[in-house]
Amino acid sequence: MTAKSPEIMVDLIKVSKTYPPRVHALVDVSLTVHAGEMLFLTGMSGAGKTTLLRLLCRGETPDKGLVEVAGQDLDRLSGSGLQQLRRRIGMAYQDFKLLPRHTVAENIALAMEVAYRKRSFIRKRTRELLEKLRLADKYATPAGELSRGEQQRISIARALANMPDLVLADEPTGNLDRETTALVMDLFREHEERGATIIIATHDRELFSDGSHRVIELTAGQLRSPEEPGRTGEQSLHNEEASQ
Ligand SMILES: Nc1ncnc2c1ncn2[C@@H]1O[C@H](COP(=O)(O)OP(=O)(O)OP(=O)(O)O)[C@@H](O)[C@H]1O
Ligand SMILES: [Mg+2]
Repeated sequence: MTAKSPEIMVDLIKVSKTYPPRVHALVDVSLTVHAGEMLFLTGMSGAGKTTLLRLLCRGETPDKGLVEVAGQDLDRLSGSGLQQLRRRIGMAYQDFKLLPRHTVAENIALAMEVAYRKRSFIRKRTRELLEKLRLADKYATPAGELSRGEQQRISIARALANMPDLVLADEPTGNLDRETTALVMDLFREHEERGATIIIATHDRELFSDGSHRVIELTAGQLRSPEEPGRTGEQSLHNEEASQ
């Protein structure tokens, strides 16, 4: 067994996922993400972005290959071990997954209650997140009464509430205008600065057009880096290893 470098947060090795009957959502995907890195995952609709994020929080299991998060093989985790790891992960879902009859504050609080946070802490943190996302006036509104853009921001607030080590954001700006997109990206950058690892699946090339972060592209379930056409994610990984 090889010793794992502690600064690797996500390691996928030759991961494949096929949905019945024969949808090859991911094919032999290898990817290493270092702790503290912000990474953009792009690709056409149906390319496998959501599937990849769901594998990282064990929302799905792979048919083949290894998925490691924070040095732990997800396939071997269950019960309290899996729960503990999930508390370190914040996922903002593409379809939000909010509880529509619960208030905005309750939706955000739920993520913190499962991590046994104190009520005073939960209230303070919820208000702080809502202020940053310009939704302070929605604190007591049922989530189901919000616009889609507002719901999207609540799902992001919920994902960030526990200061997770790993943030998985699935199309986090899909329903947002330019100004609100900038607010959300500022918030992600704040979490990047405190050392969180952040993976953002997006169609919006504007989000990574400044070239300051790594971008990887899924094409029909396979990885390649757009800045290096022709190189698969797997080859990049091997090259990285060879250069160390
Ligand atoms: N639960 C499922 N059952 C069957 N097929 C699925 C399931 N989830 C996804 N797929 C299929 O797997 C492929 C990858 O889907 P995925 O949702 O990962 O793509 P995506 O890149 O996130 O797309 P989008 O940009 O539209 O969100 C698609 O062909 C999709 O139809
Ligand atoms: Mg998707």
